[in-house]
Amino acid sequence: MKQEVYNSIETWFNSYVEGFENENEKDNIILKRDHSFRVVKLTKELGEKLDLSDSDILLIQCIALLHDLGRFKQLVNYGTFSDTDEINHIQLGLATLTEHDVLAELNEEERNIVLECITYHHEPVLPKNINSLALPLIQVLRDADTIDILHIVSNYYLNNKIGTNKRLEMELSDKPDVSKKVYQSIMDEKQVAFKNILTINDLKLYQMSLIYDLNFKISFKIISEKTYLKQIFETLPKKDLVIDMYRQMKIFLENQL
Ligand SMILES: [Fe+2]
Ligand SMILES: [Fe+2]
Repeated sequence: MKQEVYNSIETWFNSYVEGFENENEKDNIILKRDHSFRVVKLTKELGEKLDLSDSDILLIQCIALLHDLGRFKQLVNYGTFSDTDEINHIQLGLATLTEHDVLAELNEEERNIVLECITYHHEPVLPKNINSLALPLIQVLRDADTIDILHIVSNYYLNNKIGTNKRLEMELSDKPDVSKKVYQSIMDEKQVAFKNILTINDLKLYQMSLIYDLNFKISFKIISEKTYLKQIFETLPKKDLVIDMYRQMKIFLENQL
């Protein structure tokens, strides 16, 4: 992919996002726009560290920019960040790409890679038959996405009262409970399944458990240096079970460095 192609997609993206003038959701539109650009930056950093080609780095930046495109419509039309079968940010994003013919300047191979990476960026487990050209790029995208999600939520939980941003809290209950299944997954060093999240505490632990699916040493290093797990842990109730889970994830993270 060429720089000019990336630039013209970025210009389109900026004007698309500007079109979402919604007073109630303004902060969250900006939050998602800024997330997209930070993921662009992170994919570039990771891509360079991993010695991807310049062309692949531009392609992964383009994927990063567009990966959450569906979030804007999801937020403004449906008032949520919660994905369901009917309303999910992947399908909304893919439909928007087609509707606006955003990938017109890409060749067919690049277009397929972009679509495949966006389609599977949020799946708990990647399908085995994923296109071998898309695989390293989607791995970079998923790591960059996780790093920035941890950045956003650790900052949010530390600096805001519960209830400040119901969208970010996925409209979940602030009961102090932690679900058993969340505990089991984390102690088994497995990412928590989204369907098992019942409370905001579960959500925090799910977000921490994303570390179990990171692909690259450099990603563990960034998360460790930024102390995201510790910051989220500070905002959780200090029950024995929670301390066990934190310790399990902390040791797992340290072992990857
Ligand atoms: Fe996403
Ligand atoms: Fe994302």
